[in-house]
Amino acid sequence: HSAEAHRTDLMTITRFVLNEQSKHPESRGDFTILLSHIVLGCKFVCTAVNKAGLAKLIGLAGETNGEEQKKLDVLSNEVFIKALVSSGRTCILVSEEDENAIIVEPSKRGKYCVVFDPLDGSSNIDCGVSIGTIFGIYALKDTHEPTIEDVLLPGKNMVAAGYCMYGSSCTLVLSTGAGVNGFTLDPSLGEFILTHPDIKIPKKGKIYSVNEGNAKNWDRPTATYVEKCKFPEDGSSPKSLRYIGSMVADVHRTLLYGGIFLYPADKKSPNGKLRVLYEVFPMSFLMEQAGGQAFTGKERALDLVPTKLHERSPIFLGSHDDVEEIKALYAAEG
Ligand code: AHG
Ligand code: MN
Ligand code: MN
Ligand code: MN
Repeated sequence: HSAEAHRTDLMTITRFVLNEQSKHPESRGDFTILLSHIVLGCKFVCTAVNKAGLAKLIGLAGETNGEEQKKLDVLSNEVFIKALVSSGRTCILVSEEDENAIIVEPSKRGKYCVVFDPLDGSSNIDCGVSIGTIFGIYALKDTHEPTIEDVLLPGKNMVAAGYCMYGSSCTLVLSTGAGVNGFTLDPSLGEFILTHPDIKIPKKGKIYSVNEGNAKNWDRPTATYVEKCKFPEDGSSPKSLRYIGSMVADVHRTLLYGGIFLYPADKKSPNGKLRVLYEVFPMSFLMEQAGGQAFTGKERALDLVPTKLHERSPIFLGSHDDVEEIKALYAAEG
């Protein structure tokens, strides 16, 4: 399928979701409208991220843009809040950048709750390494005054999840609960085109992805697992280490190439670093939909019931067989 074919197919993300929606006659297009506003937010952030580099160059003279560049995660946050509220299809928003949940004003309320990390990997902004946006979507059962109880739900209750990666190309990966599909922004069309239909993660991979700098503080199962990656006992070849430091980029590579991504607990941070609602849950949802697994060290990640908005959890996700190995090590630890 050449890129040209994609263009003539014109399978844009909007058409794709409309096709999906036709399988759910009960939904009156609300989800499609919500998604089109998330897509709009991603396009805005994509251009801002690309311009930030240029702004930085211009800024070299005045050095003011350096500060502007850092504010990219604040700008992204404002863009997504505005886009989500203006969709008229949301009632609660939870952002990494806002301490409290945002309750949408009654006149603009809809039935969806969106949890999101507007700009993930912000430490990588200044050096031009891929960063991204992560989002998860819950649907309210009935219309009532929304409270944060409506988003303190296990990840398995999500109706959709996805991320947009701002890298050499702008790629949006989405699941609405029926598999995973990847779309690439065609700047000449201003549309996300279906480029990665029905993504399935390889059953086993040859890559492990972890910040080895935290090795001193790991617990025994994680330390043992990483040791086995480097010195396999069964004579197989060692795994390669790939760690970008942007979760979106590390997860995207894991989804396409296979392998395992780990952000374990350590003595300094007993719950690890990644946030449950808008990092762990969406990525775990996608991994399971692509045939992989996601594990917290204690349980299936999507079964976890968060009690606080910005709660953290250790996470081990990726190829089915690789995660199975670390689950066995934690089970043996008892
Ligand atoms: P954010 O930029 O949204 O705060 O997230 C950063 C996260 C995640 O993107 C990445 O996997 C992790 O931080 C990297 O952490 P370390 O630098 O501790 O490895
Ligand atoms: Mn993040
Ligand atoms: Mn972030
Ligand atoms: Mn952050």
